[in-house]
Amino acid sequence: MTKRYITLLLSPRTPIALLTRLLILAGGAIIIYLFISASPKSFVSRSEPYIPPPNRDFPVDKPVVNPFKSPILAPGAAKSSCPFPRLELYDKEIMKFYIKHNRVTCAVEENWVSLHRGVFTITEAAATKHKNIRCDLFPVLKESDFKVVEGEPLKDFKNGTRITHDFFRVACTADDGAKYHNWHAGIRHDEDILKRKASVKVKGLDVDVIMIGLDSTSRLAWQRHLPLTRDYFVNVLNGIEMEGYNILGDGTPAAIMPILIGKREEELHEARRGYPGAKSVDDFPWIWKEFKQAGYVTAWGEDDAHLGTFQYRLLGFNDQPTDHYYRYFSLAIEPHYGDFQQYCMGSRPRHAVIQDYMRELFFLYPKKRKWSFTFQSELSHQDNNKLSQMDDDFYEHLKRLHVEKHLDNAILIMLADHGARFSKVRATAQGKQEERMPYFGIRFPEWFHKKYPQIVQNVRNNTKRLTTPFDVHETLHEIINFTGTEKANISNRGVSLFKAIPEERNCDWAQVDPHWCSCMEWSEVNADDPVLKPVVETIITTFNNYTEPYRSECAVLKVKNIKSANVLKINEAVLKFKDTSDGGRGRFGKMDDTTQHSKLLYQVNLITDPGDGLFETTVTHHLKENKMELNKKDISRTNKYGNASHCVEMKDSFLRPYCYCKDLL
Ligand SMILES: *[C@@H]1O[C@H](CO)[C@@H](O)[C@H](O)[C@H]1NC(C)=O
Ligand SMILES: *[C@@H]1O[C@H](CO)[C@@H](O)[C@H](O)[C@H]1NC(C)=O
Ligand SMILES: *[C@@H]1O[C@H](CO)[C@@H](O)[C@H](O)[C@H]1NC(C)=O
Ligand SMILES: *[C@@H]1O[C@H](CO)[C@@H](O)[C@H](O)[C@H]1NC(C)=O
Ligand SMILES: *[C@@H]1O[C@H](CO)[C@@H](O)[C@H](O)[C@H]1NC(C)=O
Ligand SMILES: *[C@@H]1O[C@H](CO)[C@@H](O)[C@H](O)[C@H]1NC(C)=O
Repeated sequence: MTKRYITLLLSPRTPIALLTRLLILAGGAIIIYLFISASPKSFVSRSEPYIPPPNRDFPVDKPVVNPFKSPILAPGAAKSSCPFPRLELYDKEIMKFYIKHNRVTCAVEENWVSLHRGVFTITEAAATKHKNIRCDLFPVLKESDFKVVEGEPLKDFKNGTRITHDFFRVACTADDGAKYHNWHAGIRHDEDILKRKASVKVKGLDVDVIMIGLDSTSRLAWQRHLPLTRDYFVNVLNGIEMEGYNILGDGTPAAIMPILIGKREEELHEARRGYPGAKSVDDFPWIWKEFKQAGYVTAWGEDDAHLGTFQYRLLGFNDQPTDHYYRYFSLAIEPHYGDFQQYCMGSRPRHAVIQDYMRELFFLYPKKRKWSFTFQSELSHQDNNKLSQMDDDFYEHLKRLHVEKHLDNAILIMLADHGARFSKVRATAQGKQEERMPYFGIRFPEWFHKKYPQIVQNVRNNTKRLTTPFDVHETLHEIINFTGTEKANISNRGVSLFKAIPEERNCDWAQVDPHWCSCMEWSEVNADDPVLKPVVETIITTFNNYTEPYRSECAVLKVKNIKSANVLKINEAVLKFKDTSDGGRGRFGKMDDTTQHSKLLYQVNLITDPGDGLFETTVTHHLKENKMELNKKDISRTNKYGNASHCVEMKDSFLRPYCYCKDLL
């Protein structure tokens, strides 16, 4: 509407005087501005869910805001013991590989049946179109963590009947000869779970936990490929993103085991297939066991049975690990992908089927606490570009959780295990850095902000700290056994994100190995080191260039003294690290890569003459082009210039730090 009006106003054929048009346009702009600035930013009213515009482009990256700005450091990082790299969302090298795909489209005819609310339902639409639909249900039964079998068929299963299993193959026929065949997942009625009480005294935060994970998605890839989802999470749900979330090792288990167990694979008993003495993973101290003791319903699931985090290289579980366990469904459907359109199960995309399944927990257990974790690989494991195919569905999932009020008493965590590992992206310096910085976002319900403001404040502050999957484990502990919001004791390798993590925390404290550590490294450069010559030349030329138009007033500056110089680089171990030998669920990697630094950052403090101006500057050396770059925003004058620039004060106040008036010489 608005667009049409503006076009109309701008059209030369519209018979309105130019001045009137301009006035109307200006008035409109002011009203729009007032409307935007008056609308509440933090929480959107429940009755009017926010709907971001479709197909919108990437949001503009945040400006650098710290007082000492630098082009390759993240905001606020300069003083930290772990300065993060400031990675460009649209890095040129990375964008070479960027493709946006369309949303997955599935069968046009809606699925005939559903298992919503634990009840088998034949839809009105199907019943209207096809008379007398009769369905047989074949329960999917566990034989092991690697094999499922079909149970006795439940013949002519009646509409409206409760289900007693989570997963079924469904085969229906109708009088018109039409047939329907699909697999369906839902949450069964289970009296034992419904009656379960906490077996330990719980002093927790009394909230549900919803964890949604994606394979191989860096923080920035999440922003690039899932703009709708991310926008809704950050701007509508008020979700908080951790900017220094760093991996602990290579592959999915290296991220997920520390989260779920609090330990690395190497610290646990041998569970690798084919290794002497290897046992299944049942005995590990899984966090869901604690949630179960605390009275929670538990659910864990992965969409890709073949790549299962604990089954690909490891022996998997003998017993079903959580109350609801999606793996049996993944195992059942994987051989039948070819029966459906790509990435679909009938009319629903597979990535939505797993999300729908977890959402059902909220309908079956409205009065119980719930802990769930779904981890999806299908659309990101091989190629991040495919993620754009699920953005709309993922966004709709979040919106539904929100509008249906399931988030009202839940902490929502969205995360990835690591960045892209297989694509060409990873051969670039930025790709290597992105790989080490997976996505991690956390969102609290509205009441939580009022009841626990210090938790929220700490988490916000911790977005600028180094954090790891060990911390996520500690945080999950805190949800059932809350111990406070004081300063975190970083002598422990994992600390709760609800505590205040001090700035000193670095990869040593957090036990992140050097080749996984994305903190940048500062090293001192001697003032008379020849590498500084072109750097200092760039600085002084830039200063004098600024004052050139006022040469009759401002003196030409020289360098009097270099006070200190440091160079900041990606740590060498990161660049050298190449790949794992065993297909992405591996333990260790090779260290023989030859990716070169693409840029170095020189931080130089110097004194100029005349006037003894004290400057902090950051010069970027682009190595490929052998080009020095110094931007205005990367210069700070750190002592007073007082009256020394009085001669340009009124003419160009920007020049005051750089101009020493000749009349003072
Ligand atoms: C099946 O039952 C549901 C209510 O449980 C009802 O809405 C639906 O119309 C029924 N379908 C048929 C085909 O009768
Ligand atoms: C958060 O950081 C700000 C500035 O860095 C600091 O003033 C404040 O005390 C911190 N809050 C907490 C709870 O640590
Ligand atoms: C809760 O935390 C305290 C302090 O860390 C610990 O002593 C206690 O055993 C924990 N309780 C449970 C149920 O985990
Ligand atoms: C911090 O943790 C370490 C190791 O667990 C412990 O030895 C130390 O006493 C703790 N410090 C404080 C102040 O609690
Ligand atoms: C000097 O400034 C001019 C414009 O004012 C610009 O075109 C030129 O690139 C600058 N030279 C240096 C070395 O900064
Ligand atoms: C600054 O210096 C100029 C030249 O010496 C003088 O005319 C002017 O009064 C001074 N201004 C102040 C505020 O000291």
